[in-house]
Amino acid sequence: MDEVEVRLRSGDRVLIRPIRASDAAELQRAFALMSEASQYQRFMTGTPRLTDSQAAYFTAVDHVDHEACVAHAPDDDSLIIGVARFIRYSSTPDDAELAVTVADSWQGRGLGAALLRVLTARAVEVGVRRFRAEMMADNAAIIGLLRSAGMTDETVSGRLATGHVVLARPD
Ligand SMILES: CC(C)(COP(=O)(O)OP(=O)(O)OC[C@H]1O[C@@H](n2cnc3c(N)ncnc32)[C@H](O)[C@@H]1OP(=O)(O)O)[C@@H](O)C(=O)NCCC(=O)NCCS
Repeated sequence: MDEVEVRLRSGDRVLIRPIRASDAAELQRAFALMSEASQYQRFMTGTPRLTDSQAAYFTAVDHVDHEACVAHAPDDDSLIIGVARFIRYSSTPDDAELAVTVADSWQGRGLGAALLRVLTARAVEVGVRRFRAEMMADNAAIIGLLRSAGMTDETVSGRLATGHVVLARPD
């Protein structure tokens, strides 16, 4: 996956590239700046900070079974403003767990959708056929985003919802 420049629905241009190990400290900084509500929606527990070992795990990816792409504002490529990630299930390697996070001040501009498109293209390249997402059942933003991407099999159990997105195969 190369770095790509993407024009968002809002008109903003952002850069999206694969995550790298050297992003660990910046990922921690970006996570700490998120609202409590966004942090909670991402991890579904109170997680005020990413520990060093979490940051290392989330950035030292192998780009095949675990991939993440990060978005930068074009005027400052040191600031991460969004991340989309998949982690393949070892027992069912056609499937991968999906997570998308956008900095609060960038939400609602089309960045989540752009990150999902770039991640999906990479997932298809390495043989992932389906994303599975687990989210809070009241998380209208991710549910809306994933429905736009074709989410199926939505189920709700208590406060949690799950769904799948079948990935298009290249023509
Ligand atoms: C979920 C999240 C990634 C969405 O990112 P975003 O950049 O705000 O979303 P986009 O602007 O790209 O919107 C994409 C689609 O999602 C839907 N959507 C976005 N925000 C929505 C909201 N508040 N309510 C309903 N639908 C919404 C819409 O369908 C939208 O498409 P459309 O308006 O063009 O039809 C972002 O809100 C976020 O980071 N939330 C906190 C972390 C989180 O909940 N992560 C998910 C855990 S898996």
